[in-house]
Amino acid sequence: MNRSHGNPLRDLADRRLPRVAGPSGLVIFGVTGDLSRKKLMPAVYDLANRGLLPPGFSLVGFARRNWQHEDFAQVVHDAVKEHSRTPFREEIWQQLIQGMRFVQGAFDDDEAFERLHRTLEELDKSQGTGGNFAFYLSVPPSSFPVVTRQLKKHGLADRSDGSWRRAVIEKPFGHDLKSARGLNSLVHEAFSPDQVFRIDHYLGKETVQNILALRFANTIFEPIWNRSYVDHVQITMAEDIGIGGRAGYYDGIGAARDVMQNHLLQLLALTAMEEPASFDADALAAEKTRVLGAVRLPDDLGRDTVRAQYTAGWQGGRKAVGYLEEDGIDPRSTTDTYAAVKVGVDNRRWAGVPFYLRTGKRLGRRVTEIAVVFQRAPHSPFASSVTEDLGANAIVIRVQPEEGVTVRFGSKVPGTSMEIRDVLMDFAYGESFTESSPEAYERLILDVLLGDANLFPRTEEVELSWKILDPVERYWDTNGEPARYPSGTWGPAEADDMMERDGRSWRRP
Ligand code: BG6
Repeated sequence: MNRSHGNPLRDLADRRLPRVAGPSGLVIFGVTGDLSRKKLMPAVYDLANRGLLPPGFSLVGFARRNWQHEDFAQVVHDAVKEHSRTPFREEIWQQLIQGMRFVQGAFDDDEAFERLHRTLEELDKSQGTGGNFAFYLSVPPSSFPVVTRQLKKHGLADRSDGSWRRAVIEKPFGHDLKSARGLNSLVHEAFSPDQVFRIDHYLGKETVQNILALRFANTIFEPIWNRSYVDHVQITMAEDIGIGGRAGYYDGIGAARDVMQNHLLQLLALTAMEEPASFDADALAAEKTRVLGAVRLPDDLGRDTVRAQYTAGWQGGRKAVGYLEEDGIDPRSTTDTYAAVKVGVDNRRWAGVPFYLRTGKRLGRRVTEIAVVFQRAPHSPFASSVTEDLGANAIVIRVQPEEGVTVRFGSKVPGTSMEIRDVLMDFAYGESFTESSPEAYERLILDVLLGDANLFPRTEEVELSWKILDPVERYWDTNGEPARYPSGTWGPAEADDMMERDGRSWRRP
């Protein structure tokens, strides 16, 4: 029975209360990295500023640098000033700084982990953190084993006194299915599955959570969300940036492993999944796992997948170098900076409906969207000249930027003759709500501290995603060179050809 039938007002009020984390702290490994400075530290400050952290909240940095607590606090201060979303307030900062500590050491240094142990005990006494700590592994996957082993060895991973310990893991979760399995079993030697939170920051985005709201809180979309009405689905994650200073991470990984294995397949899962029995983590994971398990690759990977690399070109009025000329990139690299893959979903809802996924760096502009494109009307009473300019109906979930939802349909052009053209009906977050959206990392860090696992992919989802991608990567490895596309364009001609062969075309968002 729906719980709100009991006392609808109280239920509503309870759910609207801000979710505030209880006594706790966050330990960041890899605290000198980009992610930590640009996303994690600012998110912690923004949460504090919004009153969502407990008064004694503690932030501990662990790194090799020879820093004192004050040096670490200064780094956090600068990162917050530069990157946080909410205004800087001295009183919030003064409170936050009380719980800041730095532990110096290498990951294999036992002494350093003993110091970390003592630091957390000290924080429990001085800040009232209650033994509750999340360990954020913002480190390369090659360091996961040593850090998790050390946490276990030094008694930091587990508690028997009712307090909690959690591990937060950043992608990439492996390089393929085999390495992902290896990584998962290593992490699970130290932490049980319910202690592990894998970050896919796309799931922290408001618009991504809105996919489920749109589909399952309304009645008008779900009846047409299936093979009887949908012609195909296009999921695009386009970036205008190149690889910047990330050559070391990116080369050899490429676009498909970097964002398709995680962000794009999660978007597909949310778009295609069945309605979960409830909005709790188990029910959601069960449906996402089911649909990922039903994803089927095309038989001919040469025909229905494309990988490519950007060459020199123009981006936003500036000259951009090609991928092979970027600093730190092997000039013979065959790493993909663009990937397009067509998949099917083998179930009754989606049989025969292709899902086209594409992503790339240095494309025309930054845009992430899911476009559900509908079939043409089966019969038209209008002469074909009347509907010449009419495209297919579409529902477009705009993940970013200009977050919102667009419905495209045909409408009569004003005038004395009959002519029908596409028009757009728009919902824009910025216009409909006064609250601005929190950053994905704010939401996800808060959820870790609350122990709310809804927005974190499970082991099975990660492994299924690799299972989908592995044959594609293997095919690419053994079949020639990537295609090329000039920076600032919408990708290689081969990707357009791939769509054309199906009688379709990519959207130009
Ligand atoms: C990360 C990828 O996961 O997502 C990056 O590693 C990419 O390569 C980034 O640039 C994009 O995130 P967002 O939130 O800016 O779309």
